[in-house]
Amino acid sequence: MTEFVLHRSAAPSTPEQRAEILANPVFGHYFVDHQVIADHDESEGWVNPRIEAMGTWQMHPASAGFHYGQEIFEGLKAYRHDDGSVWLFRPEANAARFVRSAERLCMPRLPEEAFVDAVRKLVAVDSEWVPDGEGEQSLYIRPFMIASEPYLGVRPASGYTFSIIASPVGAYYDEPVTLWLTPNYTRAAPGGTGEAKCGGNYAASLAAAAEAEAEGCGQVLWTDGAERKYIEECGTMNFMYITADGELVTPELNGSILPGITRDSLLKLAPQHDLKPVEAQISVDELFDGVASGRIVEALACGTAAVVTPIVGFKAPGGIHHVVGDGTPGERTRALRTHLVDIQYGRAEDAFGWTQRVV
Ligand code: PLP
Ligand code: COI
Repeated sequence: MTEFVLHRSAAPSTPEQRAEILANPVFGHYFVDHQVIADHDESEGWVNPRIEAMGTWQMHPASAGFHYGQEIFEGLKAYRHDDGSVWLFRPEANAARFVRSAERLCMPRLPEEAFVDAVRKLVAVDSEWVPDGEGEQSLYIRPFMIASEPYLGVRPASGYTFSIIASPVGAYYDEPVTLWLTPNYTRAAPGGTGEAKCGGNYAASLAAAAEAEAEGCGQVLWTDGAERKYIEECGTMNFMYITADGELVTPELNGSILPGITRDSLLKLAPQHDLKPVEAQISVDELFDGVASGRIVEALACGTAAVVTPIVGFKAPGGIHHVVGDGTPGERTRALRTHLVDIQYGRAEDAFGWTQRVV
């Protein structure tokens, strides 16, 4: 793909408008002044890569993405360090996952370098939208691709649009969560799209999220689609727990779990916290027995938007309610969270070379 061409917005936000939004950046409500767009055509490949004013697009109502869900996305963040510089966290990992998601959904491959380049350019153009690090604010970046060919037959579309939008954000969850073990729904089946980051997975999860909310829980705890016996992940996060004998345990990637970049980062940081990273098949019984017996002392969920969210309990049908530890966020969960966030905001050593400066 050739260079992304910049067409600057003729009416960007004023410093006063930005300041008002950045004072309370509710997750995903406000958007920066520009967006990335590129089109993919079967014969020409990626064409017309550009950065232009944020605004609505026109799409034909028969666009395949509207009907058959050929849509994938990513989520990453830009962080402002204390010296004013702006940094990304592992964007190449998002680029690689975007390629894998595209392959699963029969969509065209966006070269990884082009993905990272486009993210960097958008963040550079709209760097004034990156909040300062107070309150763990950041700029959430949403690359995505959707099938745009107007055609109602079911087959991979011949035309696609790639875009990146970005939104200044604060915390996704303000509080620790209790998870609901849904008896009615699964998120992903063997051979399905669970390990791809595609919109359809999230549409399919909404009914379970509503059920969780009705049960007084902040999130769903998903089990496997075949037997409903093994823990997979949470609605927008991967799942982990910490044992009394110092293990950081998470479900092993099995094709139906989203391979989270935060998950991978925490597993790599674990030894610095005297925690042994373990990826294993975890049954619901093992989890609930472990919490009840005190073998499992902390639980957490992790993801880009939610960072590290402490899990303080589990609820399941039949009035089952297990409280983790004393029902408050665990100390090691907090330490892992602080370590990760300190790397992202440039306050701790980036020993793995995960961060890269944009401006
Ligand atoms: N699992 C699901 C279903 C998610 O939506 C996310 C969020 O992206 C994650 C896990 C965590 O992935 P990551 O850490 O790459 O953001
Ligand atoms: C992310 O953490 O980037 C996610 O994708 C979660 C999002 C669905 C809110």
